[in-house]
Formats: sequence, structure tokens, C-alpha cells
Amino acid sequence: MNQVHLSGKTALVTGAARGIGYEISRALALAGVKVGLVDLNVDEANQAAALLSGEGCLVQAIHADVSDETQIKEIVEQAALRWGRVDILVNNAGICPMTPLLEITPIEWDRVLAINLKGVFLCSQAVIPIMQRQRSGKIINIASSAGQMGGIAVGVHYSASKAGILGLTKSLARILAPDIQVNAVSPGTTESEMTRGWDDGAVQNIIRQIPAGRLGRPGDTAAAVLFLASEQASFITGQTINVNGGLLMV
Ligand SMILES: NC(=O)c1ccc[n+]([C@@H]2O[C@H](COP(=O)([O-])OP(=O)(O)OC[C@H]3O[C@@H](n4cnc5c(N)ncnc54)[C@H](O)[C@@H]3O)[C@@H](O)[C@H]2O)c1
Repeated sequence: MNQVHLSGKTALVTGAARGIGYEISRALALAGVKVGLVDLNVDEANQAAALLSGEGCLVQAIHADVSDETQIKEIVEQAALRWGRVDILVNNAGICPMTPLLEITPIEWDRVLAINLKGVFLCSQAVIPIMQRQRSGKIINIASSAGQMGGIAVGVHYSASKAGILGLTKSLARILAPDIQVNAVSPGTTESEMTRGWDDGAVQNIIRQIPAGRLGRPGDTAAAVLFLASEQASFITGQTINVNGGLLMV
């Protein structure tokens, strides 16, 4: 993974305090990127920053809620002032309630869509003028196989929000070409806090459907993000890289 060199680049990664976002931040930082670890959970973000700093990474914890337009505008402005540029945005923050279909309230629906989909829009909208001025940038959105094939265990609002990310990714890619590349990475079920409490029977049922015979690991998704963030991926835009062990083949 460390063969990609991105020294001097800067990135904002949302939901970076743990799980997939943490591994994405680590992969970018080990490749030489200065990374802002954006998270709602400031304590965990500070712990993540301390761990990564211990590995020699240039990272900083940033407290923000991706669904809050004012907060996002402010932290993106501050990052641009501090670094002089923002090269990479990874929209990773997300929540995944398992609420059964008939029990999902309109309030819960709105909350999932506000974080998982509006958050991607708000962070992208805040960063795009900076990337346009630079005439370069990479936006990488973390979707989910649930948005492509229907979730096996997750709530329908989650699947809908992730399907929305795929449409948003393609529209942004078209509008922002040729200077800015916008792509999605779509993980299948992955070992993280998000899935830790899942019923073992349900997890075994999912694993039986995965040709690779295991759940994803955060590093699997981080490797795909690192590639998309690199110059080697400069002719790739509007695409989705599926990181699912063969669960879904498209
Ligand atoms: N774990 C999986 O099986 C899986 C599969 C496919 C896609 N994904 C997606 O990958 C991404 C990361 O998932 P994970 O498994 O690492 O989850 P996780 O729950 O372990 O981590 C999510 C992080 O996002 C942060 N966050 C939540 N709401 C936020 C908000 N409003 N603003 C800022 N930060 C916020 C949390 O504090 C947490 O640090 C999510 O978008 C998720 O939907 C996960």
C-alpha cells in the first residue's frame, strides 16, 4: 500500500475516528498526505490522531457533524487556510440503523439521509470551489453493496442513502470533469464497530454468500481509496469500485 506516494497532498476524511475511515486516513497519511480526521466523536478522533501521530503521520482531529452545513463550511475553510489547498475529500461518515421496515419513523429516515447522503453533498459542495481554483481534486465517496443489491440485514433507509450516493457520484463526476475526479468505493459487509453487534447467525449467513469466504476488513476499502486518490487513477471518474469479496459481481 505504501508504494503510492502522495507527499505534499492534503485530505479531509469524514468519519475518520474509527473503522473504515480510520484505515483510509492511515493509508493516505502513510503515503505522505496531511489528513484532517473529521468526526462527530471528538474524543475518538483525538485518540485516532494520537495513534497515527505515533506512527509519524501528519494528522489532525477535526470536530464536525457532516449533516450540519455551517460546521462543514467552517472546517473546510479552516483546512484551506491552514494547508493552502485541499486535494482529497473522502466522504466516509455514515450510520446504519437496523430498524425493521415498518418501524422506521420519518424522523429516523431523515436522520439517516441527512448524515449518509446530505453529508456527502454538503462536504463536496464546500470543497469543490477550492478544488476548482486548484484545477485538481479527488472526491471519493464510500457507498455500500446494500445500495446496489438491497441490504441483507440493514434498514431500507440505509440502502436508499447509499444508492443515492452512487447517483450523486456520477452527476458530480460529469459536472466536475476534467479537473476533478469523483468516484465511489462500495464495500460489502466489513468488520467494524458498525457490524460488531450483529447477530452471529446473520453474519454467518452473509459470509456463506461471499465467494471470498470472509467479511471485508477496513484495509480492503482503504486500499481502493488510496488507488483512487493517486495519480494512477487520473483517467477514472464516475466509477464504483466494489470491495465485497465477490458478493456482488457487476
Ligand atoms: N462496516 C460495514 O459493513 C460497511 C459496509 C459498507 C459500507 N460501509 C460504510 O463505510 C463507512 C464507514 O463505516 P464503518 O463500518 O467504519 O462505521 P463506524 O460506525 O465504525 O464508523 C463511522 C464513523 O463515522 C462517524 N460519524 C457518524 N455520524 C457522523 C456525523 N454526522 N458526522 C461526522 N462523523 C460521523 C462516527 O463517529 C464513526 O467514527 C460508512 O459510510 C458505512 O456506511 C460500512
